[in-house]
Amino acid sequence: MRSLPRLTEMAHWLVTKWLRPGDLAIDATAGNGHDTAFLARLTGQEGLVLALDIEPAALEATARRLASEQAPADHVRLVIGDHARLESYVPAEWFGQVRVIMFNLGYRPHSNWPIKTRLVSTLSALGQSLSLLADGGLLTIVMYPGHEGGESETTAILEWASALDDTLWHVARYDLPNIRSRPPILLAIHKRLRKDATGPDHDALIDGEEPRAAI
Ligand SMILES: C[S@@+](CC[C@H](N)C(=O)[O-])C[C@H]1O[C@@H](n2cnc3c(N)ncnc32)[C@H](O)[C@@H]1O
Repeated sequence: MRSLPRLTEMAHWLVTKWLRPGDLAIDATAGNGHDTAFLARLTGQEGLVLALDIEPAALEATARRLASEQAPADHVRLVIGDHARLESYVPAEWFGQVRVIMFNLGYRPHSNWPIKTRLVSTLSALGQSLSLLADGGLLTIVMYPGHEGGESETTAILEWASALDDTLWHVARYDLPNIRSRPPILLAIHKRLRKDATGPDHDALIDGEEPRAAI
């Protein structure tokens, strides 16, 4: 039986349009490693993935998942750290070169001591992500307004994203408008190609712009 995709699956679907073998990618909230393993598979042996989580057990879970899914773990750097300091964990040569950055906010399912993402550190990490992205790159954020503290975090991110300069960034929002239990929201932020930044309109978005940069 068919059902609509979860927003995490929707994020994966978008990312498959962006990533190719050899690309650089960041998972800013590694959690149980689903997104990291997915990024590792898409970027392959020639690519590199930086996976970050503040909870050490999350990175253990991520390492286990990479092994069990036989994802190319040699090409994944697992870092215990706060994404509020994201830039400090990223090699200098990655700045402006990262093809995809994923955030899945909230807490790690099945964690004994779940640590939730927080508004101030999340906003800081998102701001840093913009300068790490390559031209044409993609940032995805799955947000959980139904979690305690998640509503203010979601509201702040929506305000932040809505204020981004539309000559440089395109922001898309995916949500479930008739679900009453404050369901998740997915944001996708595309760093427009330099050649598009001076363009007169946004037809490319409507017509299905080829998202991949010619770099
Ligand atoms: C919903 S889970 C992520 C799920 C994960 N992407 C996956 O595919 O399984 C959110 C994660 O964010 C982590 N987290 C919370 N605050 C953080 C911070 N300041 N820096 C980095 N990670 C953080 C939590 O420890 C948790 O593992």
